[in-house]
Amino acid sequence: MTEVGADAVIHLKEVSVAFNAERPALDDVSVELTEQRIGVIGANGSGKSTFARLLNGLIRPTSGSLRVHGRDPVREGKELRRMVGFVFSNPDVQVIMPTVVEDVAFSLRGRGLQRSEADARVAATLDRVGLTALGDAAAHTLSGGQKQLLALASVLVTRPALVIADEPTALLDSVNSRIISNHLLDDAHHQVVIVTHDMRLAARCDVVLWFDGGRLIEAGAPRTVIDAYERMSA
Ligand SMILES: Nc1ncnc2c1ncn2[C@@H]1O[C@H](COP(=O)(O)OP(=O)(O)OP(=O)(O)O)[C@@H](O)[C@H]1O
Ligand SMILES: [Mg+2]
Repeated sequence: MTEVGADAVIHLKEVSVAFNAERPALDDVSVELTEQRIGVIGANGSGKSTFARLLNGLIRPTSGSLRVHGRDPVREGKELRRMVGFVFSNPDVQVIMPTVVEDVAFSLRGRGLQRSEADARVAATLDRVGLTALGDAAAHTLSGGQKQLLALASVLVTRPALVIADEPTALLDSVNSRIISNHLLDDAHHQVVIVTHDMRLAARCDVVLWFDGGRLIEAGAPRTVIDAYERMSA
């Protein structure tokens, strides 16, 4: 049973992305996704990150069209980015402010919240990811896993309708990897697109997309798509 809204739809129609004259990074991709947990797998350079970055308007399609939660990322990128949270592998590129509390609070700037409401949301989010005791710690002194939790808290505090996570567990040990994955996958309030080379993580999704050479080879039930990908890669 999911709680994500009826407008939690990602729709790509004949989308291609060409950065240069060589082979396109994404090649004629059409797909409609309504599942809550969307896994994205494929070899290095297959187009996964390009797909992820398209979804909040950071990259524009060279041709074709897309809509994300009812919005056109090209024309309505600014509005869309307020509803979308991004989590990368390396939290160092995401942690901005000196302390843990300040970093999470920074995400709420410009959202018109009362100070007391913002403070309460920050506290609740830190509690949720288990970072309350480190609230006043200098962000740069956190371990890699703690920094990734901080990056996640800074995303979740905005209550995004869609979270896009590009290899969020790549630098983490198995314990932190599981904690981050659980926060991303077991939250019915957001739809999540998770790019990963970890097939156990992909298997926990509701649907898996397999990219190869910029083409969407298969989109379907996780076990079926993962098995096909692993047969190809063997
Ligand atoms: N900004 C860019 N400028 C030029 N080429 C790019 C750019 N971004 C990606 N590419 C190219 O597009 C292709 C797809 O890259 P992308 O980053 O989407 O792959 P990926 O599937 O995320 O790979 P990985 O698993 O290594 O992260 C690659 O050939 C890459 O070199
Ligand atoms: Mg990538």
